[in-house]
This record gives sequence, C-alpha cells and structure tokens, in this order.
Amino acid sequence: MRKNIVAGNWKMNKTIEEGVQLVKEIKSLISEKQISSVQLIINPPFTHLSVLKNEIANSVIKIGAQNCSYESSGAYTGEVSVGMLKSIDIDYVIIGHSERRAYFNETDEILLKKLNLVLESGLLPIFCCGEVLSQRDAGIHFEVVRQQIENTIFKLSEDKFKKVVIAYEPVWAIGTGRTATSEQAQEIHKYIRNLITEKFGSTVASEISILYGGSCNAQNAKELFQNPDVDGGLIGGASLKAADFVQIASSF
Ligand code: PGA
Repeated sequence: MRKNIVAGNWKMNKTIEEGVQLVKEIKSLISEKQISSVQLIINPPFTHLSVLKNEIANSVIKIGAQNCSYESSGAYTGEVSVGMLKSIDIDYVIIGHSERRAYFNETDEILLKKLNLVLESGLLPIFCCGEVLSQRDAGIHFEVVRQQIENTIFKLSEDKFKKVVIAYEPVWAIGTGRTATSEQAQEIHKYIRNLITEKFGSTVASEISILYGGSCNAQNAKELFQNPDVDGGLIGGASLKAADFVQIASSF
C-alpha cells in the first residue's frame, strides 16, 4: 500500500542510551505536531533493536534493521538472520544500501536472496538503488538504476514485489550535503514508477512507495516531497536529531 514514509537510517551511530534518548525526544515532538499522514520508521543498529522496540511501543513509530544475512541460519559468524529479527518483531529491513554495496561487496545476487528471505518472513524491505557521481556525469543514471531494479526486485513475484518500499538514493548525495534537485528527484522517481508500470501494470505501480534519500533535511524535505512521485525520504544524518527528523516528517 502506497504511503508517505519517513525512515531514519541511523547507520553506525548512537549508543543505546543515546538512542533511547533520541526516541524519547521524537515521541514527545510528534505528540505536539500533527503527523497523521506519514509512517515514521527508525532503523537503529542491531544492538539497539530490542530496547528501542519497547521504547516505541504504543507510538506511531515503526522499527527496522539496517541489514540482514542472506543465509537463514548456520555457521556465519557475525551475521544476523531475518528469523532473529522476526523473533523480536521488527517491521522493516533496509536492503542494498549503497554503503553495503560499496564497502561489503553486496551484489544484486546477494540482495535478491535477502529480499526473498525478508519477504518470506513477513517483514518489509526498504530496497535502495541509485547511481554514483561518475555514472550521473556520464548520463547513464537511468540505465544504472534500471539494471539495479531488474536484477533484484523485478525478479520477485508480483505478490512479493507489492510489499517492497523503494528508496532512490543517488550515492553522490549521501552524506555530502549535496542533494538532488527537486526536478532530478521527480524525474528519476517517475522513471522508476514507469518501469514498474511496464513490468507489473499501473495499479501495482501506483501502490508502491518510492522514497528519496541523500542529504534530505528539514530545509529541503518539503520541496522534495511535494513531487507527485516522491513518497517520502530515507534520512541519514538528519534522522539523528529529533527536531530535524520530526520536521522532515511534517513536510508533506
Ligand atoms: P544522508 O544519508 O541523509 O546522511 O545523506 C542518507 C542515507 O544514506 O540513507
């Protein structure tokens, strides 16, 4: 179901104590503002999930992990399985963040395995795609994103695909302070939605949430979110400050 979503990707930041404090602040700010038309999600590190799951109980906030293993169990030292995440009642899992692709060599093949495990467990993936700067400069960003999508989420059955949240994140905009313009975001979000129409039809395409990520902040969120094909944001740096995160969530 297409919804407006603002998801915070905390990356490798915050101790548990700091995380609890941040969630308390977010909760108190959202009780003051009218945030009814948006699904708020926090994606803290694995170590924080159980504690923060309790902290968000009885609030409108949902919780996701930033990653999961592509295997379901076994001798994979250091990995965390989807089953483990399900056992603590996690709602979402970010799959294919550009930092995972770049620093941990996650290929499309690995991402497809993760997507299937997540969906078969009843959790919801936030699937990331996006080009690097050299690809944007070479004018091949549409092609790059198309391939990332065709090799992964387009290999899912329609029933599974309908549950995916897509996050378009141009890598050159992540953590750089250089955001895509509102026009650039709309152009590629529309392109992605058209690809979905070609593959699964317009009804499915109209039901998928496509988020923008990359230096989205309290100042530029409104302009980005007013685009017809931008359904919210995946927020890194600005999700670590309660006031900014809540301001972004009230930007629809
Ligand atoms: P940023 O990160 O908002 O700090 O650019 C976004 C992301 O990596 O998801």
